[in-house]
Amino acid sequence: MSQTHKRILLGISGGIAAYKCAELVRRLKDQACEVRVVMTESAKQFITPLTMQAVSGEPVADSLLDPAAEAAMGHIELAKWADLVLVAPASSNIIAKMAAGIADDLLTTLLLATPAKVAIAPAMNQQMYAHPATQANLSTLANREVAIWGPGQGEQACGDVGKGRMLEPHELVALALGELTPEAPLLAGKTVTITAGPTREALDPVRYISNHSSGKMGYALAEAALALGAHVHLISGPVALTPPPDCDVHMVSSALDMHQAAMKLAPNSDVFIGCAAVADYRAADIAEQKIKKQGDEMTLTLVKNPDIIADVAALTAQRPYTVGFAAETQDVAQYAQGKLKNKGLDMICANDVSQAGIGFNANDNALTLFWDKEQQSLPLASKSELALTVVKAIAGKLN
Ligand code: PMT
Repeated sequence: MSQTHKRILLGISGGIAAYKCAELVRRLKDQACEVRVVMTESAKQFITPLTMQAVSGEPVADSLLDPAAEAAMGHIELAKWADLVLVAPASSNIIAKMAAGIADDLLTTLLLATPAKVAIAPAMNQQMYAHPATQANLSTLANREVAIWGPGQGEQACGDVGKGRMLEPHELVALALGELTPEAPLLAGKTVTITAGPTREALDPVRYISNHSSGKMGYALAEAALALGAHVHLISGPVALTPPPDCDVHMVSSALDMHQAAMKLAPNSDVFIGCAAVADYRAADIAEQKIKKQGDEMTLTLVKNPDIIADVAALTAQRPYTVGFAAETQDVAQYAQGKLKNKGLDMICANDVSQAGIGFNANDNALTLFWDKEQQSLPLASKSELALTVVKAIAGKLN
């Protein structure tokens, strides 16, 4: 397997969960994976090759007997190209064919021809999954070291409830990275607590002071820490994101709530990352009733919030490795290094939020990491890619 590339051949078989493959490919590409897609004939009934070509940026292969495709990258070449072959969704039919060693289309032929690790994400009706034939086929594949990821439990497209749902794209991405990243267990056995998103400081029952943090950077850090094997606590302000399912989520609203959750979790954490955009001040008094409009001007009295990350860094017993972020619009390096020192942090990620297209609410970012005597620039990349680099940098500092 190449160290710099993560080449994934995604085999899509026929199942309603195929519609999730566009998101799966997008997320894999966010993690710097190269993805090529192979579709069975029935997969094309659920999602079009054009969609998969658009998200993967590569032509989709679907025929063993297509001279043009064979001339571009023949099926044996494709089988050898992959570091991982992931069949998702894996229908009961393709699982049966794999168990029997049948090679009657491009995907099943590739599955016999590849030297790469093979993983499947079963997806089918719960009764079909529970059938002894399917279970026997799955055991045959497991005995041949095929990784079987899922299925999940829950409500199915057909209305049944039970085991048979394809794992969600972000779960498959974490498993694929775990398989492909040699440093995957870097944080195995470690607990990482991350704050993400904005805080909301209430003024009255209907109004609050907040900021533009979307939580994307903090949630990407949580996914990256999970991918490296950590147990993750995500303390999140109000955001419109779905958290990774494998982490413990603590939803909070105000800076005081976030402070309370952080001080409870930090002493039992190996790493604490403060990515949240915490309000420095809150209203001195929260009005019990909606504040009425009065005159042309209005004065709010604000009082200082506790500094969460500084309080974590000041823990004397059970102090985690403490990492802050600094969102700055000018003199970025100078202010970030000041915060590193004044808040007693081990590391700080300086974020120049004056630049268009990065920082608050963007999908991309660029950071400079500062330690007491070192620094590292991370140029523009997706927040997912940056998060993996940041978390690996942190892991490298733990003893
Ligand atoms: O959420 P996104 O839309 O993805 O955007 C990401 C981000 C821009 C919010 C993120 O990359 C970032 O820079 N987060 C820090 C934002 C911030 O509030 O920075 P600050 O310079 O004000 O605070 C410095 C550090 O102290 C931060 O680690 C912050 O979490 C922490 N802090 C601040 C105030 C406070 N009362 N308690 C704190 O713990």
